[in-house]
Amino acid sequence: MLARVVAAAVLALAAVVASASAAAAGDATYPVRWEVGYMTVAPLGVSQKVIAINNQFPGPLLNVTTNWNVRVNVQNNLDEPLLLTWDGIQMRMNSWQDGVAGTNCPIPPGWNWTYQFQLKDQIGSFFYFPSLGLQRAAGGYGPVTVNNRAIVPVPFNQPDGDITLFIGDWYTKSHTELRDMLDDGKDLGIPDGILINAKGPYRYDTTLVPEGLQYEIVGVEPGKTYRFRVHNVGTSTSLNFRIQNHNMRLVEAEGTYTYQQNYTNLDIHVGQSYSFLVSMDQNASTDYYIVASPRFVSSEARWHDVNGVAILQYSNSKGSASGPLPDAPDDFYDKYYSMNQARSIRMNVSSGAARPNPQGSFRYGSINITQTFVLKNESPLRIDGKRRRTINRVSYSPPETPLRLADLHNLTGVYKTDFPTMPSNAPPRRASSVLNASYKGFLEMVFQNNETDVQTYHLDGYSFFVVGMDYGEWTPNSRGSYNKWDAISRSTTQVFPGGWTAVLVSLDNVGIWNIRAEKLDNWYNGQEVYVKVADPLGYNVTEMIAPDNTLYCGLLEHLQKPQIHETSKKSSGHAVARWSTQLLATVSLIVTAVIGS
Ligand SMILES: *[C@@H]1O[C@H](CO)[C@@H](O)[C@H](O)[C@H]1NC(C)=O
Ligand SMILES: *[C@@H]1O[C@H](CO)[C@@H](O)[C@H](O)[C@H]1NC(C)=O
Ligand SMILES: *[C@@H]1O[C@H](CO)[C@@H](O)[C@H](O)[C@H]1NC(C)=O
Ligand SMILES: *[C@@H]1O[C@H](CO)[C@@H](O)[C@H](O)[C@H]1NC(C)=O
Ligand SMILES: *[C@@H]1O[C@H](CO)[C@@H](O)[C@H](O)[C@H]1NC(C)=O
Ligand SMILES: *[C@@H]1O[C@H](CO)[C@@H](O)[C@H](O)[C@H]1NC(C)=O
Ligand SMILES: *[C@@H]1O[C@H](CO)[C@@H](O)[C@H](O)[C@H]1NC(C)=O
Ligand SMILES: *[C@@H]1O[C@H](CO)[C@@H](O)[C@H](O)[C@H]1NC(C)=O
Ligand SMILES: *[C@@H]1O[C@H](CO)[C@@H](O)[C@H](O)[C@H]1NC(C)=O
Ligand SMILES: *[C@@H]1O[C@H](CO)[C@@H](O)[C@H](O)[C@H]1NC(C)=O
Repeated sequence: MLARVVAAAVLALAAVVASASAAAAGDATYPVRWEVGYMTVAPLGVSQKVIAINNQFPGPLLNVTTNWNVRVNVQNNLDEPLLLTWDGIQMRMNSWQDGVAGTNCPIPPGWNWTYQFQLKDQIGSFFYFPSLGLQRAAGGYGPVTVNNRAIVPVPFNQPDGDITLFIGDWYTKSHTELRDMLDDGKDLGIPDGILINAKGPYRYDTTLVPEGLQYEIVGVEPGKTYRFRVHNVGTSTSLNFRIQNHNMRLVEAEGTYTYQQNYTNLDIHVGQSYSFLVSMDQNASTDYYIVASPRFVSSEARWHDVNGVAILQYSNSKGSASGPLPDAPDDFYDKYYSMNQARSIRMNVSSGAARPNPQGSFRYGSINITQTFVLKNESPLRIDGKRRRTINRVSYSPPETPLRLADLHNLTGVYKTDFPTMPSNAPPRRASSVLNASYKGFLEMVFQNNETDVQTYHLDGYSFFVVGMDYGEWTPNSRGSYNKWDAISRSTTQVFPGGWTAVLVSLDNVGIWNIRAEKLDNWYNGQEVYVKVADPLGYNVTEMIAPDNTLYCGLLEHLQKPQIHETSKKSSGHAVARWSTQLLATVSLIVTAVIGS
């Protein structure tokens, strides 16, 4: 009897929770439910726990069309807090859905939370991943493909097929062990391998690759053309991507159509995404290698043994791939090879895009710059005895209360807006400090890399024009070399060792947005900052209001309502405690009601 009453009460409460999240009106709605949990696999022959979504690793494809409303109901079955972020998805006027610690409270273990956002005016190839505490090093990522609406033309013929490849370095240690290493001030060292779609390398060399590893096979038909969407989701290694004997026609970089050119290989840095058209124009005498090999790494011999290798297999293939892998660029004495390749990636200014003219910034070369940030990284610095990563000598310390929520609730003291906009020799410090920027301004950001390895930086909420990169120190005179006509607009850029990269951004998206090192170890050690884009009087009225299902934590934890869980099998003590408190409260209410009547 009591059990039935409780069950009914739980159902009634669940209905209340469900109706609280109203559906967005207008364009099509795309609802999915994702269970995020651990799964045991052995991509490199060593059993390990990875993060899977609906038991898939990589996670499921979010296949959507411009302007659709997405609802992703995420059930956190991990034993840790979770946030998913959407790399390259602009969340227009809606930083509430960005899924980083500065905008959202984490989803506690055992809880679920529904992301709701519109893919406003976007098109292209993006990905999602878990943003907290190095979790991406355990997987949890998957593709977001935003298709064009029928009325929006695409500057190439419809390909015969669509193939997504996730490439990335990989450790057989768990993300918690890797975290411990970083906490102890250690480097992560050379990765154990490079995965392609979560699988180990094809056995191209019997001395280097053990028997029995599963590898990715891409099946194709002769004479057809496929769109390859390639994302580097690794921890910290830049990769050179190539397909043996095949030209790769670059057509898209993170949501912008490129000036189409053939490449035989392309450097793809951590966090970057590209689309290539590849024609199956070879004679299928054998299968072909698809390779992702490390770039800009130390000369240690062991790096040569670490390669991601998949197989391109024609339906009429006459035999398996054999022999050495296709050569990587031999540019040891030419430090401009990779930079020139990056500079050659330009926008096709005559092709339509989903959003061709963000706030008039198409002629971005003639807009006056209103603000400049020069953001410099250095080799790790010691702060309070700990080895930390910095930008302008500040190592970011994420407050427990998300910045955006603190602002909404007028909480002062959670963070400061005193992040230095220029490098200095100030003593290094940890701080919860953000950059101020003015809505409708035109921002110039210069990333200055004072280290000897390549960096990659990503900006949420925007795409920026990558107008220049070079070696040496940036000075205002460097502006003379900017590409003011057809620079690529994207959200993730590399910065070469001892060099700089300059980007221009039209500040048309109100909110608080993450700027981060995409290299996970650097990010974890504090190499990130937020930029607060608000009117001088505060956030603009056009920003979306906080969603009904907002989670509360930190100084606002008292506002959080308990959650009834469908699945509590893997929830933590904290969540279970809340769950049973809620049940008890419900039960006692009902019992009181029964006794009272
Ligand atoms: C993704 O959606 C597009 C457009 O609706 C469709 O043509 C395509 O087949 C879908 N792809 C997959 C893999 O489901
Ligand atoms: C949790 O999942 C349930 C069942 O799918 C759903 O009704 C509810 O809205 C979700 N809660 C949140 C906060 O998203
Ligand atoms: C640029 O875009 C136009 C218009 O869609 C297209 O016809 C042309 O082939 C593209 N050119 C290059 C080089 O990408
Ligand atoms: C690019 O590669 C394709 C496929 O190999 C080839 O058909 C085409 O002629 C190449 N284009 C140029 C400009 O070299
Ligand atoms: C097919 O490719 C093999 C290997 O490159 C080559 O030896 C052979 O001549 C090619 N055959 C034709 C018909 O092109
Ligand atoms: C840009 O600045 C120049 C001189 O500083 C000024 O003459 C020009 O009008 C400005 N252009 C715009 C579009 O504001
Ligand atoms: C925050 O301050 C604004 C302006 O003073 C006020 O309108 C708003 O109600 C305050 N919000 C909260 C949650 O106190
Ligand atoms: C940042 O903007 C806020 C208003 O939004 C202002 O109070 C504060 O002084 C600004 N900080 C700096 C360093 O300019
Ligand atoms: C780092 O900065 C110092 C001081 O500006 C400079 O002397 C040094 O060459 C820089 N190193 C690199 C790798 O950029
Ligand atoms: C907010 O932006 C709109 C245009 O998007 C503008 O008309 C309005 O004046 C702005 N509001 C404030 C408070 O600045």
